[in-house]
Amino acid sequence: MKTVPLGPTGRQVPNVVLGLMRIAQMDDDAVRRLVRTARDAGVDFIDHADVYGDELHGCERRFAEAMQLTPSQRAELTIQSKAGIVPDGPYFDYSYDHLVESVEGSLRALDTDYLDVLLLHRPDALVEPDEVARAFDHLESTGKVRAFGVSNHTPGQIELLRRSVRQPLVANQLQLSITHAPMVAQGVAANMAGLDQSTARDGGILDYCRLHDITVQAWSPFQAGFFTGVFLGHEGYPELNAVIDRLAATYDVPAIAIATAWITRHPAGMQVVLGTTTPERVAGAAQGSDVPLTRAEWYELFRAAGYTVP
Ligand SMILES: NC(=O)c1ccc[n+]([C@@H]2O[C@H](COP(=O)([O-])OP(=O)(O)OC[C@H]3O[C@@H](n4cnc5c(N)ncnc54)[C@H](OP(=O)(O)O)[C@@H]3O)[C@@H](O)[C@H]2O)c1
Repeated sequence: MKTVPLGPTGRQVPNVVLGLMRIAQMDDDAVRRLVRTARDAGVDFIDHADVYGDELHGCERRFAEAMQLTPSQRAELTIQSKAGIVPDGPYFDYSYDHLVESVEGSLRALDTDYLDVLLLHRPDALVEPDEVARAFDHLESTGKVRAFGVSNHTPGQIELLRRSVRQPLVANQLQLSITHAPMVAQGVAANMAGLDQSTARDGGILDYCRLHDITVQAWSPFQAGFFTGVFLGHEGYPELNAVIDRLAATYDVPAIAIATAWITRHPAGMQVVLGTTTPERVAGAAQGSDVPLTRAEWYELFRAAGYTVP
């Protein structure tokens, strides 16, 4: 498993992450098999959020109850969770009280003393950066959170936080797959009149993260769009799947490894956050960790997904 630095800390972490958003209905054995398969493949980085599951902290609790981790097993894992979404509404809340309460709920549900990483889940329009800073200072000084980051944030939103927050922001988790790659595709076609791909919607977040050593974590890496189903093997993407299948044969890996490699091949040093609950798919995706796609192959996949290379 290839590793990448986690933000400016330089701490090495695997470039494939096991996301556990979809485990709410899985029994203990199934959760254990999923996590064990990931561990065997070198994936020791787990992604959670307080809102994953049918009830608050549901997936975090399901994970802890199934795994029953000993302290040393816990220490072998990097456990990341997120706060800031209030599902009853919905709305977003980056207040001190909400962030601290959410983390304490996560720690109880996960049956652990600390989160390795806490991400602010989705930008709060009413964010007060000093209040976030106060929450981070409290969570850090009490040992409840070891590192901090964001998710779905623009450069301006990160800059605003950085004016108040003392801790480095190590990661920005963003939606990215071959078929949903505006953060990559916009820059390739900047200044092309009349082309939707040229429209800058995220303030240049990919370049910003690279310039500030913020690790990009790609969520929904196999979804065609926003939870619209996967593009792998889907009849709506014949050209893309033909290229994926040909490269899978070339590199002697499953198709899912090529879809993973399209992200891990990017020199930004991204992490791919898997959401599958199928152990075989986790093992297959992990094989994409260091598939050395050539430039020509990477761009061929990009074009086959429908993006323009002017
Ligand atoms: N920060 C954010 O705002 C945010 C938002 C969404 C998600 N996330 C994180 O990102 C993770 C991944 O998100 P995701 O689950 O949407 O991503 P994904 O890995 O692209 O999608 C996984 C889903 O696709 C299904 N699937 C069907 N065919 C598949 C195939 N051939 N290969 C792989 N999967 C297939 C899986 O089903 P099976 O389970 O049956 O395999 C599963 O339901 C989540 O677990 C969560 O940790 C973060």
